[in-house]
Amino acid sequence: MNYPFWDVPYLSGGGVIGLIATYHLLIALFAVGGGLYLPLAERKALKEGRDDWFGVLKSHSKFFLILTAAFGTTSGVGIWFAIGLANPEATSTLIHNFVFGWAIEYVFFIVELTTAAIYYYTWDKIDPKLHLKIGYVYAASSWLTLVIINGILTFMLTPGSTWLSVAGSGNEASVFWYAFFNPTYFPSLVLRTLISWNLAGIWALVTASRLDGFRHGKLKHEIISWSAKWLIPGFVLVPFCFLWYLAMVPEAQRQLLDLGISTIGQGTFTQITRSALITVMTSATIIALVYFVAVRNSKSFGLGWAISLVLLAFAATASTEQAREMLRKPYVIGDFMYSNGVRKSEVEKYNAEGYLTHSSWAANSVKGFYSDSETIEAADLKKGELMFRGQCGACHTEKGYRAMNNLLKDRDETAIGNILQMLHENKDDSPYRKYMPPLVGKDDEIKALAAYLKQISVNASK
Ligand code: HEC
Repeated sequence: MNYPFWDVPYLSGGGVIGLIATYHLLIALFAVGGGLYLPLAERKALKEGRDDWFGVLKSHSKFFLILTAAFGTTSGVGIWFAIGLANPEATSTLIHNFVFGWAIEYVFFIVELTTAAIYYYTWDKIDPKLHLKIGYVYAASSWLTLVIINGILTFMLTPGSTWLSVAGSGNEASVFWYAFFNPTYFPSLVLRTLISWNLAGIWALVTASRLDGFRHGKLKHEIISWSAKWLIPGFVLVPFCFLWYLAMVPEAQRQLLDLGISTIGQGTFTQITRSALITVMTSATIIALVYFVAVRNSKSFGLGWAISLVLLAFAATASTEQAREMLRKPYVIGDFMYSNGVRKSEVEKYNAEGYLTHSSWAANSVKGFYSDSETIEAADLKKGELMFRGQCGACHTEKGYRAMNNLLKDRDETAIGNILQMLHENKDDSPYRKYMPPLVGKDDEIKALAAYLKQISVNASK
């Protein structure tokens, strides 16, 4: 624990990242898919001489520019803010490995934002063919931002054997491209591209819903039907790409998914399955609504319905991201660093020499606890709290998200001691090792953690 812990009551730091990331993804992927939607729609209108389409496209490109440039960019920075606080150790690894990747990313961002603005402000002002070309430059640069960031995101799930073989040696930069084009890179790129087209269709329905269906019935129907087609490739191909993606995830990680599915009836470990089910159900609902409410009744399709579709897409995105996140457990960077920032290679060192003792600011606090507290028990509790924050807080809160007071209710000292023992030994047959990191530290630290957890469980049973 080289950094102080960011304590977010009820939600946890991970929860904050999840919320910002989902919001960001909805907009950022729209920026990618919508970037292609606009020029293709413009091309169609140009070819068919449909002046009435231009009015709609102009207003859509304004909505698009505001949403992506104002909300997409700020939420992107928000993710940085949150991951740096919630998981400084992993963020540092990413920066050390991918600073060059981010430099490229920013070049594409600037091209993307500039062309999006030029595209909007030059409607009717320049030759339509040139305008269309600007649209294509936008489409390409926004997709390229996905091409880059996808390498960094997939790296965290599957860094790949080449990178793992040099991880921690200082030579990581020499295998940059292996880390970048890691095992899940391509399936994920195809998946995200397909989803970006789905979102382009869904967001376009927001603009279309505002057309007066009684005065412009035909136009509204055409735009809605054309936008709805953007959902088809995704809905046909996503299931296959998802299987491809899973096939590239290491066996050990996939077991977590099997575990979820085989225990679905007993409800022992259903989170990942629950997420997957929510994704399937919300996606099916989206398709049904788009067809029956938007396409079949386009005249009366209003903003309320369009916003419901966006909210459903939000739920589908959130649950898919949650499932991906679960798949990565207990790691934040696959097979290298656990979610709580402990490197796999450091486990033995911490067990032999102590966990808190290896963190300069925590070690000093601990000394203070023992000199300032009235009793040793009180000092132990404080020390245990630091252990909890450092090693459990990445995934658990005291009350709230994956709450300790719930999970520990009715467990006495022996039961708590047993579970900590299992987490500490981390044997091959431990059911916990599939989703929880090993508990590291010396005996006195683990005892302090037990004392702290016992207090939570006592408070919970009151
Ligand atoms: C990588 C994330 C992660 C970390 C870090 C983590 N856990 Fe967990 N823990 C989980 C998940 C996921 C579950 C399953 C929760 C559920 O079923 O609702 C769980 C469940 C538990 C349970 C209930 C187990 C059972 O058999 O009912 C306990 C107790 C627990 N964790 C304690 C801890 C302690 C103590 C630590 C710190 C030493 C810790 N966890 C660190 C992810 C984590």
